[in-house]
Amino acid sequence: MPNIPTRFEALRGGFKAFFAPPPEGVTRLTVGEPGFDTPSNVTNAMIDAVKSGDTHYTRGEGRESLCATWAEYLQHRWNIPVTGEGIVMTPGAKQALLYAMMVALDRDDEILLLDPAWPTYAEQAVLVGAKPISVPCIQPSFRPDMVALENAISHRTKALLINSPNNPTGAVYTPEEIQNMVDFAIRHDLWIISDEIYAELIWNGTPHISPASLPGGFERTLTVMGPSKTHAMTGWRVGVLAATNEVANLVGRIQGNTCSHIPSFIMPAAEVAAKEWDSVGEFRGDYIQKRKRMMDLIEQIPLLNAGEPEGAFYLMVDVRNTGMDAITFAARAMEEACVQVIPLEGIPGGEGYIRLSYAADDDVIEEGLKRLGEWLGNQ
Ligand SMILES: Cc1ncc(COP(=O)(O)O)c(C=O)c1O
Repeated sequence: MPNIPTRFEALRGGFKAFFAPPPEGVTRLTVGEPGFDTPSNVTNAMIDAVKSGDTHYTRGEGRESLCATWAEYLQHRWNIPVTGEGIVMTPGAKQALLYAMMVALDRDDEILLLDPAWPTYAEQAVLVGAKPISVPCIQPSFRPDMVALENAISHRTKALLINSPNNPTGAVYTPEEIQNMVDFAIRHDLWIISDEIYAELIWNGTPHISPASLPGGFERTLTVMGPSKTHAMTGWRVGVLAATNEVANLVGRIQGNTCSHIPSFIMPAAEVAAKEWDSVGEFRGDYIQKRKRMMDLIEQIPLLNAGEPEGAFYLMVDVRNTGMDAITFAARAMEEACVQVIPLEGIPGGEGYIRLSYAADDDVIEEGLKRLGEWLGNQ
C-alpha cells in the first residue's frame, strides 16, 4: 500500500470526539446545535425544489437571487456594504472559514487567534500551511487583550480572527473592542476573518458590530455567516462568505474547482432562511430561559464557577476548585456521573475549564446538572 503523505498527520479533530453518540444513559451537555427543528417554511422550500426537479448544476457562488438576499440581510441587519456579487454560499460556515484562510494566508503566514478559541480555526490555519498564533484573552471575562495583540505582531502576521459572540467563551465583544481590533488590523494591514455565526444570539443587550461595517473594515474583512445555529440548520450545510467582489470572485473560483456549489435544491431554502429572520425570535426566548436555568443550577454547585455568557449557547465552567484538571474532570464525569462534557484543556487558554452547551432540552439540562451536583457533593 502506498504511504499516506505525512503533512496532515498532526491534524486534530476539534471537538469531534465528543459528538459521537455516547453510551446509553449518558446525559450530553456537549452538542453545539439547537434542539429545535428547522422552521417548516425552510424545509418546505427544499421539498418543493426537489419535487420540481431543481437538481442540476447551477451558479457556483449560489443563484443570483440567493446571494442578493443574503447581501440584503447583511446590509440591513449588520450594515455591511456587500452586494450579491460579494457573496459565496458555502457548505456550512466552516467551509467559508477555510476559504477565508485560503485567500488571506500564504504558506508560513501567521494568523492571530484570541484564545481560548474554537479549535477548528487553528487546524484550518495548519491545513492551508499557515501558523496559528495564540493570543490569550483577559480572564476570567475573556475580553480581547490589545496589548497582547500588539505584542504578537511579527513580520509574518497577515490576519486576525474575530469570533463574537464567541464559542466557547460566550463573550460578546463591545463596539469599542471591535473598533479597537479594526484599528489594529488597519494599522498593521491585516485581513480580518470575522466569524459571526452567533450574531443573532446575544443575551446581554450588547449590540453586535460587524468589523466590515466600520470605516476601513469592509475591504479587509472576510465575514462568515450562516443559518446553522439560528435556524437549526446545522445538518443542511449552508454557510455564507461575504467580502469585496474581488475576494468573492476568487473564492467562487476555489469553490468552482472543489465542490462546485451547495446543492441546487437547498438554495431556495437558504433564501427563505435569509428572508425570514423573525423565526429566530421564536428560539431566542427559549435560549434565554435555558441559559438562566443552567446558570442557576451551576450556582448551586459550590465547586464549579462560571461567568454569565453574553451570547451563543455555551458556558465556560472553571473546574479547578474540584482539584481536577479538565480532562480528568470530563473523564470522571462520564464514568462516575454519566454526564458528557467537553474539556478545554487541549486548547490554549482553556486549561481548567469545561464547556457546557445549553442548546439542549430542558430535562437534559436539569438531569445533567443534578448528576454533576450529586457526584461532586460526594467527593
Ligand atoms: C464559532 C463557530 N463557527 C462556525 C461553526 C460552523 O458552522 P457550520 O455548521 O455552519 O459549518 C461553528 C459550529 O459549531 C462554530 O461554533
